[in-house]
Amino acid sequence: MDHAINSTQPSPRTRVLLSRQKIAQRTAELGAQICADLAHEEATLRAAGITPGPIVLVPVLTGALVFAADLIRQMPVSLSIRPVTLSSYPGSATSSQGVSVPYALPTDLAGTRVLVIDDILDSGRTLGLLSRVFAAQHPQSIRLAVLLDKRKPNGRAEEVPIQYAGFTIDDLFVVGYGLDYDGLYRNLPEVCELLLPT
Ligand code: IMP
Ligand code: MG
Repeated sequence: MDHAINSTQPSPRTRVLLSRQKIAQRTAELGAQICADLAHEEATLRAAGITPGPIVLVPVLTGALVFAADLIRQMPVSLSIRPVTLSSYPGSATSSQGVSVPYALPTDLAGTRVLVIDDILDSGRTLGLLSRVFAAQHPQSIRLAVLLDKRKPNGRAEEVPIQYAGFTIDDLFVVGYGLDYDGLYRNLPEVCELLLPT
């Protein structure tokens, strides 16, 4: 399917992998599951005489912008949001070039209950780095949520345990619903495979 976004953005050649409806349904399921787990954690902490810490969501910008915006509206709990900006696919690269951290990361997560939200798990470097940096601050808990888990038949640069994954997809380059190619196509409403010219 060709998407016409506006008159100045050329239509990328794409194939829809995940429709808006599928994404919306799965996001609602994930929100419900995360809230149930947080409620269970809260009860466990209280039973142990520990006051549950505040829930802090950490969306990884820019890719997780759209997913996080939808996910938080499926989470009717008291929470705050601390976005971070990381980059691993500079320009028109379609494979991870290593993670750069252009802005400071939060340093005050001690005693909080952290949910890191990313668009996609690929090499694992982004979420590996964030979980190490955040764990060192001793939060009460850290959970990782991704919309997409990319199948890597030969393994990842870093194997990161993910608690919540929306969909497992093949090792394709995808755009839309927040994911970009060279900064573009984040505004496509579906997750699409980008068909690059051969
Ligand atoms: P990782 O550090 O290699 O796991 O990469 C995670 C980041 O790379 C994601 O947050 C995305 O921003 C980006 N990324 C990985 N795969 C894709 C893709 O297929 N399309 C667009 N961005 C991707
Ligand atoms: Mg990203």
